[in-house]
Amino acid sequence: MNARRLLSAGLSAAALYALMTATSNAQIAQLGPGGAPPDPNPRSARVGLDRLPNAPGRDDVGDVCSRCHNIERISKQRRTARQWQAMVPMMTDRLGDAADAPGEQDVRAVAEYLSNHWSRPETPAEAAQKDPLHEPDAPLPLAQARDLSGTWMTAMWYTMLNMGPSDGLPLSRGFRSAVNPKNGVADVLSPWAREKSKSWTMYNDPLTKCNSPGPLAYNSPYVFEILHSPQRVTLITEYFHEVRRIFLDGREHPPGNPDPTAMGHSVGRWEGATLVIDSRNFKESPAFQVPWSDQFHLVERIRRVRDGNVLEIDVTIEDPLAFKEPLHGIFYFKKDPSLEFGEWNCDGFFDYEPFAPKDAKP
Ligand code: HEC
Repeated sequence: MNARRLLSAGLSAAALYALMTATSNAQIAQLGPGGAPPDPNPRSARVGLDRLPNAPGRDDVGDVCSRCHNIERISKQRRTARQWQAMVPMMTDRLGDAADAPGEQDVRAVAEYLSNHWSRPETPAEAAQKDPLHEPDAPLPLAQARDLSGTWMTAMWYTMLNMGPSDGLPLSRGFRSAVNPKNGVADVLSPWAREKSKSWTMYNDPLTKCNSPGPLAYNSPYVFEILHSPQRVTLITEYFHEVRRIFLDGREHPPGNPDPTAMGHSVGRWEGATLVIDSRNFKESPAFQVPWSDQFHLVERIRRVRDGNVLEIDVTIEDPLAFKEPLHGIFYFKKDPSLEFGEWNCDGFFDYEPFAPKDAKP
């Protein structure tokens, strides 16, 4: 799919940009679902409320949960009681320190209402999970579970951009500190990284000069594909047409980072049905919004969940120069045969000029 198709589908370039670079829940909240600002019409925002059982707490759901999307998101699907209990604060946290952020009591009332009146029983596999939002492995024979091949699209394409049925896809959880889960990316930037990110603007962004976005290029609203060959997995992304080779033959990273690259050097091993990829030997990123150094270390744990057509990539990054603490995020992707891996040209793609805030200076 190309940029034109993406833009003609109703997504502004500014929203696309915000999605690709959104690193904190606060940024995601600003973006709103569908790449649009929150619905200012309180009546349409409450669409779907009358489908929920009439019981104490329903009005709280109407008040708290209609601020960024309509209530239909909730009334069209049931989750387990434990999932609602975990999801409700995850949603309201997105409002951050906003003046109209709901109080603790309202948040609790919403969670109670949904778990008592709008939940479904847990499956035995769900009941066995300590974290209710943790997805069990797909129930597949090992050889099949380890076949990650196919074309995958970020779940945010469906849940956030409304580009297709979300079917209750798991919600990705953006980067938070692995040590203090309340902290987002901005909180853990070292003074070194903070200084670099200060010089970033829409206009000098290295992406606009077609610099590589780095190893997490798959976490963009473009498909990526996984190819298996003996002793190697290859990951190719439509976005920027990047290639990552993951060696499964037991080799190690070349010591001393002799040949730093944007994609780094990746080695993988299987832990059950999970492919664990360890990558090092990166070059320092140009001054992206979130800069990293040549000490960047990436660990990705990839596995198939649900019926096997959803991919989970659990990402931990650390960088002693750029981050005060490691960062952790969980991202979901859907196998979608309706989306073709297409041509993607960087040249001329990034033109933010028409979308820049009026007072922005190049
Ligand atoms: C600050 C904005 C915001 C608020 C407030 C908010 N949500 Fe959300 N919600 C989002 C965004 C953005 C998405 C889709 C993005 C994603 O994939 O992470 C979403 C997605 C969802 C989904 C998944 C929808 C799907 O299609 O599968 C559910 C369920 C949900 N929200 C429930 C709630 C509930 C319950 C509340 C009230 C406690 C709530 N939300 C309040 C921003 C918000």
